[in-house]
Amino acid sequence: MKEYQSYRNLPTLAGIATMQEAARPGLNVEQCVTRLKRYHYAFKRLHEIFIARLTAEPIYELKMGFSLHAYLCAEHVAALRTRVSEMREPPLGLETIPHPALEIFFDEIRGAPSTELLVLGLYEKAIPALQLALERHIADTNKLADYPTVRLCRFALLEIADMLDYGRKTIAQLVDEQQRASAKDWLALLDDCLGAAGALHGADKSVESPIVRQYSVQTFHYDKVPKRDERFPDPYNMGVNAEVFLYDQNLPPRPKTLMMFYKRLREIDVPEMMASIIAETPDKPWAYYRDMTRQLWDEARHAMMGEVGFVNAGVDWRKVMVNFTWSLGLNTQLKPFERHAVLYFIEQGLMPKNGKRFEWEIALASGDPLAGLFQDYDWADEVLHARVGRDWYLKQFTDPKEGVRYGDECWSKVLMGWRQWRDQGLTQHRNWWPDVYLDACRAWKVEPDPKVLAFNTTYEAVRADLKQLTGSG
Ligand SMILES: [Fe+2]
Ligand SMILES: [Fe+2]
Repeated sequence: MKEYQSYRNLPTLAGIATMQEAARPGLNVEQCVTRLKRYHYAFKRLHEIFIARLTAEPIYELKMGFSLHAYLCAEHVAALRTRVSEMREPPLGLETIPHPALEIFFDEIRGAPSTELLVLGLYEKAIPALQLALERHIADTNKLADYPTVRLCRFALLEIADMLDYGRKTIAQLVDEQQRASAKDWLALLDDCLGAAGALHGADKSVESPIVRQYSVQTFHYDKVPKRDERFPDPYNMGVNAEVFLYDQNLPPRPKTLMMFYKRLREIDVPEMMASIIAETPDKPWAYYRDMTRQLWDEARHAMMGEVGFVNAGVDWRKVMVNFTWSLGLNTQLKPFERHAVLYFIEQGLMPKNGKRFEWEIALASGDPLAGLFQDYDWADEVLHARVGRDWYLKQFTDPKEGVRYGDECWSKVLMGWRQWRDQGLTQHRNWWPDVYLDACRAWKVEPDPKVLAFNTTYEAVRADLKQLTGSG
């Protein structure tokens, strides 16, 4: 072995391993597949938890982080399923729970009663255990024989490192020592679960200890009511009709970028709503969950584009009353398939000339290159979302027109209580536009345009005329 030389000392084995490493047997296919199923289970449960906790998580930054991490997990689930199917004939047994203690482990984290415990469970227990498992796989397996798995693990580890970095910074800001101390017993319970399962990878000797469920004693219920943090003080406010402003040809393009940033930031409600479809639609092929979660993450990105747009324009977006009436209405009044119908109806309406192309053209005309760039990608994402809609919604109909009509019908069913919310004191539908516009004018160093400043159209009466234009997506 030591004397073996390659031709002119070129790297051997395509550079993937040393001769010693490749000569060590490592895991056989059966052992490899058994471990892969554990990583698959872990990513699947993590995806489920991120989705299940996103809607009712009030902190905007965490909603965005959970959207990304759900998406990353969905991709790795898909990759692991493919790899297992390369090595085994069906049935692949991918839906089997690999160890009862692992089920309790993830059930406990899903049921964590506070944001602080949730992030501790996710980022200090579950994801590190998965990281350890993937590193162990690379160390234990034969890098030549099992190269496709090694590659998959290396890619997954890259994104796991990003998730852990996010988690570490989040915990440092959110969880104080007292909270951590009071979580001690529960965190020990999570360790016991991993110990009983022989670690997440299952390669260690199982350490048996009595495991008593704490936060997962009761059946978990997905909370579909969206919540927001204190920077969203008026979530029922529908006092500024962005679409009426945007489509008014007598108004100049530059202030319209602010309305588009508002429309983008308001898209927080799409992940809140899509999470409810995903959480409440069981037994679909994994490609469904992957596509839907990709779209969910895109919509989170659209919201963050709005956030960046405001910050870049020198406007404090807390003065913009970003409502949650759409996700609240859909989540609480419609069934999951009806929500998907509404989403499809809105998104197919964004494709014609007056939709995403119009927004992009306005952004270019405004002279704000960032607004132009964001609308360009927003439009491109929308093309993908229309495809996702055709694949997973429209195919349920023999006539596509019927699918569109049904979406319209479902949306009309959602009661938006503009007057009722005002009468109940939930909002005054205050016109926040002049304040925001004046702030932007100061930052832009321009005189306010009286016509723009005077804009005062709400969603009370005008909605019906602009039905195909309002809403998210
Ligand atoms: Fe969007
Ligand atoms: Fe979309």
